[in-house]
Amino acid sequence: MRKPIIGGNWKMNKTVDEAVREAQDLKLEIGQIKSVEVVVFPPFTALESVGKVLRGTEIGLGAQNMFWEEKGAYTGEVSPLMLLDVGCRYVILGHSERRGYFNESDEEINKKLKSALRSGLFPLVCVGEKLGERKDGKAKQVVENQLRGCLRGISAQDIERIVIAYEPVWAIGTGETATPEQAQDMHYFIREILRELFGEKVAQVIRIQYGGSVKPENIKDLMSKEDIDGALVGGASLKAKSFAQIVRYGES
Ligand code: 13P
Repeated sequence: MRKPIIGGNWKMNKTVDEAVREAQDLKLEIGQIKSVEVVVFPPFTALESVGKVLRGTEIGLGAQNMFWEEKGAYTGEVSPLMLLDVGCRYVILGHSERRGYFNESDEEINKKLKSALRSGLFPLVCVGEKLGERKDGKAKQVVENQLRGCLRGISAQDIERIVIAYEPVWAIGTGETATPEQAQDMHYFIREILRELFGEKVAQVIRIQYGGSVKPENIKDLMSKEDIDGALVGGASLKAKSFAQIVRYGES
């Protein structure tokens, strides 16, 4: 059985005060939930303060990005050791906004992934096609290329610590969610690639999250699908109430 994992990606939102307030609310609402692995990804500036609020709860802390080197003359970058230092256990890599706005390539994401694993972080690796690519019938080819590029040279042992987040770009922040069937179809396909690359055992244990306009109203249907093991939530994670509702999808 794969334990569901639900992440709240706050993106470039919230001052430290606002982030701390949301963390306090989350602590009250879902701080002790154990049936779902819950992780929040505040902006860098709020990581330490949010981490302090969440200490002693079941809610994990993660960063939205990192650089692959441990330290040095890389102005503006943040290293895996720095993330560990402020209490992070998780890191998102290769989000489509990083691929799109900052030209991150699969090769760079692969370097980040190896570095994150070396340092002991748990990485969430994002893949997903753009609208035009889906319309052209190339969605699976795009996702397969991203997966093969990002996961190159990773051992079967390490891969079990990775979570894959399937986030179709056309569904991010648009209100247009992939249907549970569309998402399931791609998740199944991703698991097949993992099976080919790393074997049956890995394919069975690795978790694949869906991301893109996940809300309290659609989480349950998405989670009812066999290969959907969680969600990466953007907009609806910015309010503790709606994020808590998503995390508690199994209770209603
Ligand atoms: P939305 O939930 O706002 O569509 O964002 C999804 C996302 O990008 C999570 O990483």
